[in-house]
Amino acid sequence: MSALPHPPQSPLDRLGRPLHDLRLSVIEACNFRCGYCMPADRVPDDYGFDQAGRLSFDEIETLVRGFARLGMHKLRLTGGEPLLRKGLPALVERLAKVPGITDLAMTTNASLLARHAQALRDAGLQRLTISLDALDPALFRTLSGARGEIDDVLAGIAAAERAGFSAIKFNCVVQRGVNDHEVERMAAHFRGSGHVLRFIEYMDVGTCNGWDRARVVPSRELHARIDARWPLRALDANYRGEVAERHAFIDGTGEIGFISSVTAPFCGDCQRARVSADGSLYTCLFSGSGQPMRSWLADGEAAFSSRLAGLWSRRADRYSELRGSVRAPRKHVEMFLVGG
Ligand SMILES: C[S@@+](CC[C@H](N)C(=O)[O-])C[C@H]1O[C@@H](n2cnc3c(N)ncnc32)[C@H](O)[C@@H]1O
Ligand code: SF4
Repeated sequence: MSALPHPPQSPLDRLGRPLHDLRLSVIEACNFRCGYCMPADRVPDDYGFDQAGRLSFDEIETLVRGFARLGMHKLRLTGGEPLLRKGLPALVERLAKVPGITDLAMTTNASLLARHAQALRDAGLQRLTISLDALDPALFRTLSGARGEIDDVLAGIAAAERAGFSAIKFNCVVQRGVNDHEVERMAAHFRGSGHVLRFIEYMDVGTCNGWDRARVVPSRELHARIDARWPLRALDANYRGEVAERHAFIDGTGEIGFISSVTAPFCGDCQRARVSADGSLYTCLFSGSGQPMRSWLADGEAAFSSRLAGLWSRRADRYSELRGSVRAPRKHVEMFLVGG
């Protein structure tokens, strides 16, 4: 990864937050139908397979270069399911060469990873986050909307390890009465693996997941359960704005994390922009609407980045801190459009 000769000045938003982090969706389609994201009874099977609306690889590269000019250095590819995007390794290869990008990662359900892990690694993908809510085969299948098999994910993980991905992050969204009984099993599975399991509070994203606060399992409850079985000690954040609270197993078997966006909002440090596969900017995971930017790309990365800087400097989102108040927006973008 190359550094920029003159590191750019990142514009600050109205709450003083720089733009360091971009989550870029490469596809809106998914092969799963997780109930908290894309429930099968609300999202048809053929949703998202019309390619015309998606940014091309040329457009994506221009967009990423424009973001990097403003100081964005952490880039994460997501979806929908990013591994459904045809030719993804070729895109990764182009993005890995963009000056200023120091961290190139991808979030995936890993069901198709076995056949793509090596090509992605060879193309320059540095890090992987894998979403995994259960190890029990029947429960896994149910949570995926009857689309996924745990064995495919385990094969994907093994292939990723062989390809050289290490310290893989595993995201587990915990829902009370759904998969909260799997928590210790998941922790036992990943302790000592060199990978990092993070438990995520079930969030009120999108409009169709029927969010119910009663199903949120607060991180402090999960922390107490894990700590009672395998004592933990808190670790410092790796960088400003890191969303997971990190803990180490004191017996030296590695690290575990908790992401508490419902019970301990972290808007104050949010340096993240999100772009959907059609090129719209969302300045918050809970934005009601995006700013279409595709037409700006035709003028090149410099013109694009100056328009983007203007947008970022007007940003004032802090939804998680306002949740429940009359000022909190009611309509939220779907998670499968902005990818987490
Ligand atoms: C939208 S998915 C996109 C990438 C890929 N399909 C995957 O599942 O990893 C990104 C992340 O969002 C998380 N997610 C989706 N809906 C959620 C919700 N309601 N609450 C918390 N996390 C959610 C998923 O668990 C996943 O880790
Ligand atoms: S969380 Fe990921 S795998 Fe599940 S439906 Fe959403 S986009 Fe697909």
